Amino acid sequence: MTKKTRATEHTEFSEAQIAVHWKEEERFRPPKKFVEQANAKDRDIRERFGPKKFPNCFREYADMLTWFEPYRTILDTSKPPFWKWFVGGKINASYNCVDRHLAQYRNKAALIFVPEPEDEPTVALTYQELYNRVNEMAALLRDFCGLKAGDRVTFHLPMTLELPITMLACARLGVIHSQVFGGFSGQACGTRIQDSGSHILISMDAYWRAGKLGDHKANADIAVQTAQEMGQQVDKVLIWQRYPGKYSSPTPMVKGRDFFVNEVLKNYHGKRVDPLPMDSEAPLFLMYTSGSTGKPKGCQHRTGGYLAYVAGTSKYIQDIHPTDTYWCMADIGWITGHSYIVYGPLAVAATSVVYEGVPTHPDAGRPWRIAERLGVNIFHTAPTSIRMLRKQGPEEPKKYNYHFKHMTTVGEPIEPEAWRWYYHEVGKGEAVIVDTWWQTENGGFLCSTVPAIDPMKPGSAGPGVPGIYPIIYDENGKEVRAGSGQAGNICIRNPWPGIMQTIWGDPERFVDQYYARYCKNRHSKDWRDWPYLAGDGAMQAADGYFRILGRIDDVINVAGHRLGTKEIESACLTVPEVAEAAAVPVADELKGRVPEIYIALKPGYQASQEIVNRVIKANEDLIGKIARPKSVYIVPDMPKTRSGKIMRRILASISNRKDVGDVTTLANPDVVEQIRVSVQGKEKVASKDALPEDIAKFGEND
Ligand code: PRX
Repeated sequence: MTKKTRATEHTEFSEAQIAVHWKEEERFRPPKKFVEQANAKDRDIRERFGPKKFPNCFREYADMLTWFEPYRTILDTSKPPFWKWFVGGKINASYNCVDRHLAQYRNKAALIFVPEPEDEPTVALTYQELYNRVNEMAALLRDFCGLKAGDRVTFHLPMTLELPITMLACARLGVIHSQVFGGFSGQACGTRIQDSGSHILISMDAYWRAGKLGDHKANADIAVQTAQEMGQQVDKVLIWQRYPGKYSSPTPMVKGRDFFVNEVLKNYHGKRVDPLPMDSEAPLFLMYTSGSTGKPKGCQHRTGGYLAYVAGTSKYIQDIHPTDTYWCMADIGWITGHSYIVYGPLAVAATSVVYEGVPTHPDAGRPWRIAERLGVNIFHTAPTSIRMLRKQGPEEPKKYNYHFKHMTTVGEPIEPEAWRWYYHEVGKGEAVIVDTWWQTENGGFLCSTVPAIDPMKPGSAGPGVPGIYPIIYDENGKEVRAGSGQAGNICIRNPWPGIMQTIWGDPERFVDQYYARYCKNRHSKDWRDWPYLAGDGAMQAADGYFRILGRIDDVINVAGHRLGTKEIESACLTVPEVAEAAAVPVADELKGRVPEIYIALKPGYQASQEIVNRVIKANEDLIGKIARPKSVYIVPDMPKTRSGKIMRRILASISNRKDVGDVTTLANPDVVEQIRVSVQGKEKVASKDALPEDIAKFGEND
C-alpha cells in the first residue's frame, strides 16, 4: 500500500526544516477503487497543462462552461499584472450553476441544507427549485431594491440555503455580492459595506450555533450605523427569517428601512429573470481578507476566469461527478465556501451540502451521522476541525456506516499525526486525501496532488495543480533550487484564471502587495516577469512536493482564517487607557495559531482585569469572536529598538515559551525580563527548541 520515499536522502536539512521538525513522510497510494472512477486518471493531464501549453491549457476549463458568446483571447497581458481571461466572452455564473443543468438534472438535489438542531428535517432543493428561488430573488433585487449590473450588495448571512440563493440571484443580474462571514461582528460588516459602497444589506434574523439560536439582526443595525458613520448610507436592510413567517430576533425592525425578504418575495412568486450575459471580466464578487495593514482588502474576483477555474478544479482535484454527494464543512462566508460549496460544485452539477452549525455539537459524532444519512461521499474540511473531532471523538467515525471516496484538507498546514487520523479513521483507509494550498486571492487551488495520479504525503500539499507553476525565492530575490528542501517565499510564476482581478478600489495596493517584491521589470508586458507573491514560507522536497510553513507577513492564521495583527492592534487602541498594543501568534493545539496581546497603558492608569476585559470585548466587537485573544498581558513598556519600534518578535518568543535571544541592543532590555517573568514565571522555561517557521520569523521585518 505505502511506499517509502527517498526524497530527502541526499538533501541537507535546512534550519527551517529542523524548525518544523520536518522529516520525510511515507507516501500513500490512492485507493484503486477511487482511481478507477476518477475524472482525471490519465497522467497526460500534467502534459496537457504543462508550461509549453500555457495559457491555452485553460481553454479546457473554460470549455466546461456554457458561454453566451465565445471568448476571443484566452489571456490578455497588455496591462500587467492586471491579467484578463477569456476576453470577449459573455457568460453568466447563475446560468452556468443552475439553468443549464435543468434539462438533465431538474429533479436532482442541487443543495441539501442540514440545520444544526438534529430534530429539524434536512431540506433538499432540486435544481428546478433552486432555479425558481434564484429567479424570484433576482426579481426582488432588481425591482424592489433597484439593483443593476455592477452595483455592490453586502450580505451578512449565516449558513442556510438563503445564502447561495441570494448569491446566485445577484450573479444572475451581474450584481457584485460581498458576503461577510456571519461570525464577524456588526462593525466588521459595516466597514466592509463602506469599502464596497453597498446601499443594500442582506442578513438574517437568527441562526443556530452550538445549541443557541443567536440574535443576528442586532448586527445588521450595528453594521448600518458603522457604515453611516463612515459616510456610506444603507437604504434597505433585507432580513431573511430563519423560520419563515416567524421573527426569531428580539431586535426591532426599522420601519421603512428593514424588510422581511420572505414577505416581499410573495410579490415575485413565479417571476423569471433572464440571466444577463456578462463580460467575462465583469466582477462576480468581493471577498474581504486580512493583510498586513489594518484595513481588510476586498479581493475582486472576475466572472469567466473564476468560474472556469473553480469548475475545472472541482472536476479534477475534488473529483466531483454529478452523481456525488459532496460536503464541504467550511462557511460560505470564506472563499472556500464560495468556490467549493457554491460555484465550483454547482457548475459541475453536484449535490452540495450546506451545514448550519458547529461540527462538534451536540457531540463529535455529528458529521459522521450526517455523512451516513445523506450518503456523502466527498468530504472537505480544515485541519482545525480535524484536530477538534479527533480530540473529542477519536472513535466516532467507525460507529457510522458512511464511505468517503475523497477527502480534502484546506486552510492551514496539517500535522502528519492529524493527517493519519483523517486517513485511517475518518476515511477508513478507503478515501484519497488532497491537501489543498491556496488563498482568498487565488479563487481556487494552487498546490495539491491530482488525487488519482499522485501519491499522498502527510503534511505536504503536493506539487502545483495542473497549470500552476510555483517557485520559491529567497529573501534576496534569488531562485531557491527546485527540490532542494530549502525554505523561502513561495510564488507562482504564471497568471491563472482564478486569480483576483485587483483589490477593490485600490489597484496600487494590489501591485505592491503581490507583485512588487519579485517583479523583474515593471515595464514588461511578459507575464514571466511578474511572479505572484503568496505571502507564505514554503519548501520543496526532491519529489517536487511543497510543504507550506505559514505566513511570512503580519497575518495570524487562526483556525484557517486570516487575521491581521494590525487589525487586532487597532481594535485594542479603541480602549481609551491603551497606549500601545502588540499582537503575536501563539501555537495552539487545536486552532493552529491564536493571537496573544500585549498592551502598555497611558501614564496614570493602573493595570486591571477590567481593562483586559474591555480589550477582549473590543476585539470581539470590532472583528468578531474569532479574534478573541488567548491572553492579554498588561506590560510596563513594550520592548523597543532604539528608534522606538516595538519588537513583536521578542514578545512572540515569550508567548511561545521560547528563548528571547540577545536583547542587549534594545532601548529597554530590562523590560524583556520583567515581561518574561510575568508571562512564563520566574523559572526559565525557555529552551532553544526551534519555533515553527512562521512564528520564528514573525516580526522580523519590524
Ligand atoms: O498560510 C496559508 C494558509 O492559509 C492562507 C490563506 O488563507 P485564506 O485566504 O483565509 O484562505 C484559506 C482557504 C483557502 C495561506 O496563505 N493555507 C491555506 N491552505 C493551506 C495553508 N497552509 C498550509 N496548507 C494548506 N493546505
